[in-house]
Order: sequence, then C-alpha cells, then structure tokens
Amino acid sequence: MCGIVAYIGHRQAKPILLEGLKRLEYRGYDSAGLAMLIDGKLKIGRTVGRVSMLEERLEQLGGFDGTLGLCHTRWATHGGVTELNAHPHRDDRHGLVVVHNGIIENYAALKTYLTERGHTFTSDTDTEVISMLISELYEGDLEKAVQAALREVTGAYAIAVICEKEPDTLVVARKGSPLLVGIGNGEYIVASDAAAIISHTGQAFMLDDYNVVKITRAGFRTSDIHNTPVTPKVTQLEIDLEQIELGGYPHFMLKEIFEQPKALRACCSGRMDIRDGRVVLGGVSTYAKELTRARRVILTAQGTALHAAMIGRYLLEDVAKVPTQTEYASEFRYRNPVIEEGTVVIAVSQSGETADTLAALKEAKERGALALGVINVVGSSIARETDAGVYLRVGPEIGVASTKAFTGQVAALSLLGLFMARRRLMSADACAEMLREFEALPAKIERILEQAPHVKRVTERYIDRENWLFLGRGYNYPTALEGALKLKEISYIHAEGMPAAEMKHGPIALINEGMPAVFIANKGRQYEKVMSNIAEVRSRGGHVIAVATEGDEHIKKYVQDVLYIPDVPEPLSPILAVIPLQLMAYYAAVARGHDVDKPRNLAKSVTVE
Ligand code: F6R
Repeated sequence: MCGIVAYIGHRQAKPILLEGLKRLEYRGYDSAGLAMLIDGKLKIGRTVGRVSMLEERLEQLGGFDGTLGLCHTRWATHGGVTELNAHPHRDDRHGLVVVHNGIIENYAALKTYLTERGHTFTSDTDTEVISMLISELYEGDLEKAVQAALREVTGAYAIAVICEKEPDTLVVARKGSPLLVGIGNGEYIVASDAAAIISHTGQAFMLDDYNVVKITRAGFRTSDIHNTPVTPKVTQLEIDLEQIELGGYPHFMLKEIFEQPKALRACCSGRMDIRDGRVVLGGVSTYAKELTRARRVILTAQGTALHAAMIGRYLLEDVAKVPTQTEYASEFRYRNPVIEEGTVVIAVSQSGETADTLAALKEAKERGALALGVINVVGSSIARETDAGVYLRVGPEIGVASTKAFTGQVAALSLLGLFMARRRLMSADACAEMLREFEALPAKIERILEQAPHVKRVTERYIDRENWLFLGRGYNYPTALEGALKLKEISYIHAEGMPAAEMKHGPIALINEGMPAVFIANKGRQYEKVMSNIAEVRSRGGHVIAVATEGDEHIKKYVQDVLYIPDVPEPLSPILAVIPLQLMAYYAAVARGHDVDKPRNLAKSVTVE
C-alpha cells in the first residue's frame, strides 16, 4: 500500500529514487510523485499512472538535479486517483513536503482544526493534513515539528519529510507501516522495503513504531515522538539483487511460480530430521511444551494466506489431532472472540504487514493466547508482534498475486503440524515417512512445471468464458478457493471456488453449456465422491478440467481436459495441486492482455483495514 523512497547523500538523487520506486511499484501504482531540494528550493513532479509516466513527466519538466529528495508510488485510500491527490503533499507556509504510507484516522478533525488556523487544502488526502500539521507546528526545527505533529496523529504512517528551510535534512518516521533506513558511504536511502535499498547498501535498520529519524549528510539521530533517544539495530539485509529481478522471465509471477521447487527446499532446509523422524523448528522450540499441550489452534489471515491456513487446519486436525479453526483476521479482530486457556493463535502472512492480521494477532495476545506467526518477511510488523514463529524463507515475493508464498505457507504450516503431531501422538516412523514425502515435493513440482505449455494450451481453449467454477474436497477445498482467487485477481474473470459438495445447494444453477469447471480430482479419500460431482457438472453441459493424479487414465473418459500431478499423500497434495491452477491464472491473464504483476485495483501489501 504505497511505496516510499528518500535519499540524502552526495550522488544525484533522481536516478536512485526512480530505480527504488520502480522496485516498490508492487505496493501500489495508481499515481506517483517526486520532490527534490535544489539550491534550497523545492521542485516537485507528480502524475497519475505508473512510475514510468512519472519518469516522463520529470524529463519534460527538467532540472531535477540534486542530492536530496523523496518520492512515492500510491495506492489510493483517501481521495480519488488524481494528480492533486498524488504525493508528495506540500504545506502552505514553510516549503515542506511529505510522502506517506498508511492512514491517518483522525484526519477529519485535524483538517477542521487546521482550516480554522488558516491553512488551505488542495487535495482530498489524509496525507496533506500531516504536511499542514507539521507546518503549523514548525518553529525552525523540522525534527521537532515532525515529533510534535505525530503526537497529535492517530492511525498508521510511514512518512518522509524535507523542507526548504533545512536543505541538509531528511526526517522520516514510522508507526504501523514499514520503513527502513539504508546506511551507505556518506549517504542514506530510506524505503518502505529493502528491495529499494539493496543495490546501494546491505546495512540498514528498520524503524520501530513511533521512531523518528533525522538524517543529514553527516549522520543520523533516532528518537521517539517524545524526543527520547533510541538506539537503532543496524543489521545486514538478507536479500540479494537476483531475488528481486526478473532474471529473464517476462513477469515476476511466472518467475515466482517457477521458483517454487527452490523456495520449498529453502523452507524445509535444516528443518527435517528424517533419521530420527522429527521436525526441527528452532523458532518455536521454546514453546514446544505449550504446543504439545495446546487445546485449540486459531489460524488467522486474509486472502491467499487464509487459504493456506485452511489447508493447515485440515492437517492440524487430521494429523496432530488438535481442534483448529480458521478466521478472517478482519472479522476475528472485531468479533469479541473467546480465547480459552491453551489457545495458540497463528497469524499467517507473506508480508507480515497486513493490517487486519496484525490487529487480530494483537487482540488474541491481549486475551491470553500464545501468539505465533508463519511469516515470510523477516522483521516485519507481525513477525515482531509474535511470541515465536516459523519463517517461510521463500525469498521476496514481488508479483502481486501470491504464489510461492502460498506453497511456502502450506509447507511451513505442515511442518508445524508435524512438529506438534510428533509430540502429541505420531510415531517417529510415521513422521519420517511424511518427511520423506516432503523431501520429494520440489522434484514433483518440477515435473508439473514441465507441463506448463500443456496448461497454457488448455487455458487458452476457455479464454473467452466469463464465469468459472473451482471445486475440490477435503484438503483441496481450500486449493479450489485459491485457484478461483488467482484467476479473478489477475485475469478479471469471474470465478467461484467452493467445496464440490456445496455445488448442489445452489451454485449448480449457474452451470450452462461450456462453462469451465476446474475440479481437483487427485487420488484420495474422496476421489469417488469428486467423480460423482464431475458427472453432475458434465450432465448439465459444463466443461470439466481436472487436476488428477498421474496414471489415472480412467478420469479421461469423464472430463474434457486433464492436468496431471504426481502422486503424493493427501495432506501434501495442495502443494502440488495448486501449481497448475497458478499457471492457468497466469496464462489466462497474459492471453487477455493484462498486466500480470500489477493487476487493477490491487496492491501487494494491505496495510490498511
Ligand atoms: C492474493 C494475495 C492476497 C494476500 C493477502 C494477505 O494473491 O496475495 O490475497 O494473500 O492480502 O497478504 P499477506 O500474506 O501479506 O498477509
């Protein structure tokens, strides 16, 4: 949800800012803007559209030569997508500008107050309120004015501010939205995400909530909003450039789909002790006793992460025999949930920044639950809020549609399930057997990926259909939900996912001649029942595309198209079954001419509720 980059140093800022902003475009891309301080004067360029359009606008305007600046790519919350609402937002008194990621909840009250104080607003954004408030409180010290303003603000923010009156100063602050300061050689790059920093320096620190950092070319000072000094924890960034570049792929989504074997190996590496039949999860080992005795697990997440959680639920109940429920974090946080003794709440999130998931975890923690995380981004807000957790280790996910994080989430939850199962009831032999199957998964995914051209051909046969169904049972009911979500979000085709048995209770009325229905029909406990559901769709004219187990020749007689996956124990089958569905969504979006990595209206990390 919006990306911020700011630079202060000795090099030309514009190329550094724009390169960083392009790397953050996955966070939002409806408008963009940049401001620089040049000979003590602000120069601003803004535009509706992508960063490439901002680049053109800056070229037309000319003269963006300087070594201090900031920029922003927007995902609109307050106010429509217009140039006036694009960041940076300027004040009306002191020549200062602000870029902001987050939402200011009391912006209406502040706007009324500031209007009464004589400020004139030109946009509909909450961000402009921050720039006017800092301006109102400015008495010759930008750092102090920012601190004072943020004491009045409620909501979430990551901000960067520069001011004509202090041409050697950049002030940045954070509460709730991520912000990192990269430390170079006599230069500093501030960004919402390490991806914008890594090509310049590997040294960085993440701001904590309420931190304010004043940066000059000579150094930086970190404090909180009450001006109490804070010592930042400078660390080495763990990503490398290759992970955030396309590397010959046309889209990040395709790259990330194909990265899944490698990602899964990384996720499992060092965590499987097959000889002793046990799972080694350093992150949660301190809480092994609580997990062994857990009376209930609540998995909470949004979107794709919730689908992964639903698969985790099946495994936790089936294999670890612990009562488990899944909850939309957005509902859970407001539902006055009952948390009994012995409840473990697990937040599942790729970004670790999803506002609702973070709030749900906090709520559960306050009510006495042990708070765990299954998170990809190390050091993210949710990760820091948890008592312990399991990192996915699948590397940065840049495509807006989540793929490798989904399989990573399912794998990490499955390992956690086995970790618990082994301590509760599972024999070492049974666990070792499961881990051997786990070990074989990456090679099996590779086999599915080899069939990508076949998946493409099948998908293109149905590309003109506007309504699709995705159906599955048991472990693969959530896989069906995920298949439908993937298709919807990048190809804009209407798709519904549901348990195959639910179809008869209403949705069957939708089926007409030629409607594509994707069934996950791998060999498993409910195979025969799924075959009956397939027959019901066929007899009403639907076209069935089945994801089936290799060697199942029988199914060919009953469906139009088959996408095969290797045989695998049922609890692990979603990790394979989802791969052809991800590919289908990808090829559908490409065939329809959509921008796969930047689907309309979406942003990668939903840091507002
Ligand atoms: C869909 C997708 C979203 C996210 C959801 C949660 O492809 O990516 O549905 O899964 O917004 O995001 P995280 O996992 O970052 O909490």
